[in-house]
Amino acid sequence: MNLPAILGGAALRPQGPPPWPAPDPEIRDVLERAHRDGWWGKYLAGQTEHLETRLREFFTIPHVLPCGSGNYAVELGLRALQIGPGDEVILADYDYPGNFLSIHAVGATPVLVEIDPRTWNLSIPAVRAAIGPTTKAILASHLHGGRVALRELTTLAREKGLLVLEDAAQATGACIDGCRAGTWGDVGVLSFGGSKLLSAGRGGALLTADAAVAQRARNHLMRAGNIVCPMSELQAALIVPQLEKLAERNALRWRNVQALCAVLGDIPGLRPVVAADEEGLPAFYKLGFQLDEERFALPRGLFLAAMQAEGFAVDEGFAVAHRARSPKRYRQGSPLAEASRAHAGCVQLHHPILLEGEEAISQLAQAIRRLQAHAALIRAKMVG
Ligand SMILES: Cc1ncc(COP(=O)(O)O)c(C=O)c1O
Repeated sequence: MNLPAILGGAALRPQGPPPWPAPDPEIRDVLERAHRDGWWGKYLAGQTEHLETRLREFFTIPHVLPCGSGNYAVELGLRALQIGPGDEVILADYDYPGNFLSIHAVGATPVLVEIDPRTWNLSIPAVRAAIGPTTKAILASHLHGGRVALRELTTLAREKGLLVLEDAAQATGACIDGCRAGTWGDVGVLSFGGSKLLSAGRGGALLTADAAVAQRARNHLMRAGNIVCPMSELQAALIVPQLEKLAERNALRWRNVQALCAVLGDIPGLRPVVAADEEGLPAFYKLGFQLDEERFALPRGLFLAAMQAEGFAVDEGFAVAHRARSPKRYRQGSPLAEASRAHAGCVQLHHPILLEGEEAISQLAQAIRRLQAHAALIRAKMVG
């Protein structure tokens, strides 16, 4: 869509979204060292070991297993928790879709439950109500800068004899009640995919405090002395300098989210899904907004196309599992009205702009207001 032309002006950010991963000089140094010393192509060069140590320190957790992706780490975690055929795993209907499939990959049955409308994360009352005789575990993902209340969830899990897999792929470095996201569950999962807060293009890690779980995960990960789905030495080396900056960057993203919420004020039909009263530092990977198409007066497709034309990295959120999958493949554990609302109305903003300054935040607010002010014109030009 050529929105600037429709509105008779220039795009607010003609340069487009900021690049990611960030072009840090420390990353260039790693790449130069890898080339100079030749370890970039080796099986083992001490880099993965070093990353493990740094992650163990950062997360204050005894066992860290780097691997090829967050998806694989979820599956590995389920296997290490000995979840398989005949077991049920509760997860949010609105979640990263790969998690539903990882539960299937180990032969277990997903139980879909509602989300909390304030945060779009797993609703703990819905989890409680959905527990059945064959339920074995809960998969809790922290999404959109929100954090599942893990103290409450792990207390419930202990009470009911359930295991918790905590997916912190989108919340790396966030804190919940004084502990890092990813360290509350029996297993925690990180992703180092190309868009993530710590990025190596690909990669993931499994975290656990339980030596037996770690050993089982290692057994699954190793085949004839070789790692089945490894992280490379180069990937591991690239994550370390980013880890050093993570807390500072998460704090900056959070300050900018708060500034954005303040400048947006009450825009009819657009609500930032931000629970400002939660304790501890959040980590924003994709800031979510609930778009009410009628009140904002624009359908989501046009809203996204127009914002992209203005130079902002926005897209839709997740598709809920209950719409995408056959009912034979899951049990519905609760009503799913809020999850359906997130499915239909989520607009998400990719995090790199949250590392920029006041000007970027003000441009973003300006773009949203400009869209709303010209909604009728945009509809007429684009649909008519
Ligand atoms: C919540 C969540 N879990 C898991 C994953 C999978 O991670 P990966 O892309 O590293 O496989 C993602 C990826 O976006 C995610 O958002």
